[in-house]
Amino acid sequence: EVKGTKYGMKIRDGVYLPNGVKNLSNSKCFKLRDDDIFISSFPKSGTTWTNELVWLIIHNLDFESSQKNLDKKFIWLDPGVSTKIIDDADSPRLFINHLPLQFLPLEIKSENIKKIYVLRNPKDMLVSTFHFYRKLVRDEFTGELEDLVDIFEEGKTWYGPWWSHVDSFVTLPNTFLVIYENLIKKPNETIKSLGEFLGKNLNESEIEFLIESTSFKKMKEAEKTFKDDSRHSKIFKSDLIFFRKGEIGDWKNYFDEVMSKRIEAVVEKNLKFKVNFIYDN
Ligand code: PPS
Repeated sequence: EVKGTKYGMKIRDGVYLPNGVKNLSNSKCFKLRDDDIFISSFPKSGTTWTNELVWLIIHNLDFESSQKNLDKKFIWLDPGVSTKIIDDADSPRLFINHLPLQFLPLEIKSENIKKIYVLRNPKDMLVSTFHFYRKLVRDEFTGELEDLVDIFEEGKTWYGPWWSHVDSFVTLPNTFLVIYENLIKKPNETIKSLGEFLGKNLNESEIEFLIESTSFKKMKEAEKTFKDDSRHSKIFKSDLIFFRKGEIGDWKNYFDEVMSKRIEAVVEKNLKFKVNFIYDN
């Protein structure tokens, strides 16, 4: 039983997964192609933003097309995808997942396969998660922020423990790390490197275009484009704000000193990957 949850989150293979995650066998058993790209992240870390950047870079900044065919842009592995969809998809296939590494095909670990991992400072990730959990239908969370800190410490947030998730992905070969705070603080440099990783030498005006077309404001305005309404209405309450704030340091409006230190301590203790998180604006 997870504190603050009405129905309890389900533990499967040692990991707390959302109720909507089904057919785990499909996500693990399919044949990879050399040009497949995986974008993996812990929820609320900047996934949607990164996905959009990657899609645009791969598709020569075709912004108009990016606003259409939402369900064809990425293959979201978590809910369980049919083998047919996976096999029929055009190359390069863009797979997205929050699923921990052990639920993905073993071949993902190979040097051939490009991987992108999205990482955000855990305090802001948790504040974002808090707002998000409150708007869930099936896995409804009625707890307080402090309950979420307990759950985080216990490694029981969806797809958790968070530190195991991070450590398992960032250590894979051929992995590009997108740090949310870097996208905000040094977008040009970060997007240039992301482009290089994807085999594209982006010039300054292309980078400016990418920054502009994936800005928080622009993506928020086009919120509908990022939602598959039929699926979303089953998972989320209608007043979910998906593009909520999009900032560094919102945690200061939520965590007191004690909660803040608890998060830092549990991360320090468990996360093997050493990174200086940017917590402030
Ligand atoms: S999800 O549901 O796991 O896919 O969520 P995810 O996309 O990983 O994370 C959601 C948070 O990212 C913020 N976001 C952005 N910030 C800045 N710029 C852009 N373009 C952008 N797009 C999404 C979003 O607002 C969520 O963070 P919070 O702090 O809640 O605002």
